[in-house]
Amino acid sequence: MGIAKIILFNGIVTLCTQFTVINSLQNDAILWGPGLQPQKIIMPARYFFINFTAYYGKYEPSLSNDLAIEIEGKSAKNNNKCRAWVNKLDRKDGTFLIRYKIYDTCLDLSIGVFYKSKHLAGSPYKVTGPVLPDHCNCPEKDFNSWLQQYGCPKTYEQIEHDLKLHNKIDMKVQIKKIIEKYHKPESTSFCHYVIKDNKIYRDCYGKHVGFNMFSDNILLFLTRKVVLPDMELVINLGDWPLVSKLSEALPVFSWCGSNDTKDILMPTYDITESTIENMGRVTLDILSVQGSIEHEWQKREPRAIWRGRDSRLERLKLVDIARANPDLFNASLTNFFFFRDKEAQYGPKQPHISFFKFFDYKYQVNVDGTVAAYRLPYLLAGGGMVLKQESPFFEHFYSMLRPWEHYVPVSRDLSDLKDRVIWAREHDDEARKISENARKFANENLLPQHIICYHAVLFSEWSKRIKSEINVYEGMTHVPQVKSKCDCEEQDFKHEEL
Ligand SMILES: *[C@@H]1O[C@H](CO)[C@@H](O)[C@H](O)[C@H]1NC(C)=O
Ligand SMILES: *[C@@H]1O[C@H](CO)[C@@H](O)[C@H](O)[C@H]1NC(C)=O
Ligand SMILES: *[C@@H]1O[C@H](CO)[C@@H](O)[C@H](O)[C@H]1NC(C)=O
Repeated sequence: MGIAKIILFNGIVTLCTQFTVINSLQNDAILWGPGLQPQKIIMPARYFFINFTAYYGKYEPSLSNDLAIEIEGKSAKNNNKCRAWVNKLDRKDGTFLIRYKIYDTCLDLSIGVFYKSKHLAGSPYKVTGPVLPDHCNCPEKDFNSWLQQYGCPKTYEQIEHDLKLHNKIDMKVQIKKIIEKYHKPESTSFCHYVIKDNKIYRDCYGKHVGFNMFSDNILLFLTRKVVLPDMELVINLGDWPLVSKLSEALPVFSWCGSNDTKDILMPTYDITESTIENMGRVTLDILSVQGSIEHEWQKREPRAIWRGRDSRLERLKLVDIARANPDLFNASLTNFFFFRDKEAQYGPKQPHISFFKFFDYKYQVNVDGTVAAYRLPYLLAGGGMVLKQESPFFEHFYSMLRPWEHYVPVSRDLSDLKDRVIWAREHDDEARKISENARKFANENLLPQHIICYHAVLFSEWSKRIKSEINVYEGMTHVPQVKSKCDCEEQDFKHEEL
């Protein structure tokens, strides 16, 4: 990844708009994205897109060499420069993703986008009002105006669908039932959360509650940004959904859904963590995967690649198919756990390869693990054609995906997998189109902004369904924010701009 550290200063005050289409000096380019409104849309890593329209779909290495980004501003604490870390991601198709992280509150932020040292497409973008880093605990008081300012939709079909079963909920009663029914310490783990006056409290049940780090993180993230309505909810910390279709519709929030269950879906811990830890702890995320790919489509191998552990029988079958058709596949297991007895036949286990290497190939196979394979978002964003196994498991966004538009469907038993790869080789334009649609889908639905919005809308819609009074239960643990040194009085600037 080409990572540049840019530390600059200065800036002038005007407004910037969400969607800017301005012709540049010599090159037509379009810029858009939430990172152009950093005063309103606070994220760990802000990002925006650049589309060199004349080159769209074509890789031109000189574009990257001639493109420079400068983020300038002055620190709110003193009049020094504020620190920004800028990351330029070349998507190898005439478009770029730019992301940047700021470390302290910046005033008079200016985003300069240069092509051959000349300002491009409306650059510099000048921002009025303070730009807060993610860690500031400065929640906006009005939830609905925050939602609008953040660019979130009012609702999602999946959320409507999931919450339809729940109305006028008495959480005191539901909690008792959930604990009675699902508290099996050996096999299930979940946390009961209370959000009261924008503070987070919880009680966790089960043996493996370490994953509450993920549910804590998204709740802490949101309550730093906005005052959440008071609510109570139960988050399942396991991959398997819990609430059978045949049993009472108890409200349990889960990361994975299935045809046989009716849990309330939330984005997986995986994509959520890669949203919150963007340009932080996590290296594979929906942005990085778009800029870490070595080859444009034409230069990729016309074969299907897969790596993973042995968590489902079809994964072994995939290895059989790949071995029989080495001209079409490169697939192997990286670990044996579930089928140790078959290691002699399907091993030896192969070393892990970087996820980014998957995109040296044109086609990527997505086979379920124990539940849905949480890699799908990154596969969709990677610019390859995804061969997706039909599955009873799904994540929060699957209902918006269309077979043959965003991916190529493969039967549950993989019996048509080989034919699908042959089809793709014989229909390169169509395969490429599907890969482009997939990436477009990821960029319209799975970017950090979208994942944050989904959680915010889900939690707020959920809170409306609860009729019982929200109180902190005795013995609950308070989940505190990390102390930040941000001057939240500056928040007032933000209202004037709406
Ligand atoms: C980039 O611009 C081209 C030409 O206007 C357009 O067809 C394409 O959809 C744009 N790409 C993106 C990702 O918006
Ligand atoms: C499969 O991929 C791995 C990792 O990129 C590579 O080392 C190996 O040579 C490939 N095997 C075949 C048969 O192409
Ligand atoms: C799951 O349900 C969907 C929608 O009803 C259906 O189209 C699909 O075939 C089912 N999948 C499996 C594997 O049962």
